[in-house]
Amino acid sequence: MMTEKIKEALNNQMIAEMYSSYLYLSMASYFEAKGLEGCSHWMKAQAQEEMVHAMKFYHFIHERGGRAIMKTIDAPPSEWDSPLKAFEHALEHEKYVTSLINNLMELAIEEKDHATQIFLQWFISEQVEEEASASQVAEKMRLAEETHGGLFMLDRELSQRAMPIPIPQEN
Ligand code: FEO
Repeated sequence: MMTEKIKEALNNQMIAEMYSSYLYLSMASYFEAKGLEGCSHWMKAQAQEEMVHAMKFYHFIHERGGRAIMKTIDAPPSEWDSPLKAFEHALEHEKYVTSLINNLMELAIEEKDHATQIFLQWFISEQVEEEASASQVAEKMRLAEETHGGLFMLDRELSQRAMPIPIPQEN
């Protein structure tokens, strides 16, 4: 059985992952309105990945005999000063999520909850990838903004990202 502290912390992380999905979908809409379809596509894929993360928490909570409790999800921003600022925000957000996962792992260690520690190991590795990919795109965007035609080429490159769940209007 999970302790109340662990139950609440896992539930909060499920909501944080849903917020991440909401944030990236907001960024997708921002890019779409700017005609940057590839950037928008990349963010939609990211939003889907975050829902997958949220569902991993949902299933784990239930497997351990708890209940996933839905709570209010804060509204994310809807505007950024530039495409680069949006990707920099994505990178900062991923660093923040890494800190949440690390705190959760520390709590699981304190509470001697070995099953939760094993479950969280996947997220520890995933966050390394999440930060690396956001950082890579932010860096490419920085260079693209300095190069003539760079943004167009990067937008085309980002449109190639595999979509975890196909979206009807994109196929
Ligand atoms: Fe679920 Fe991007 O962290």
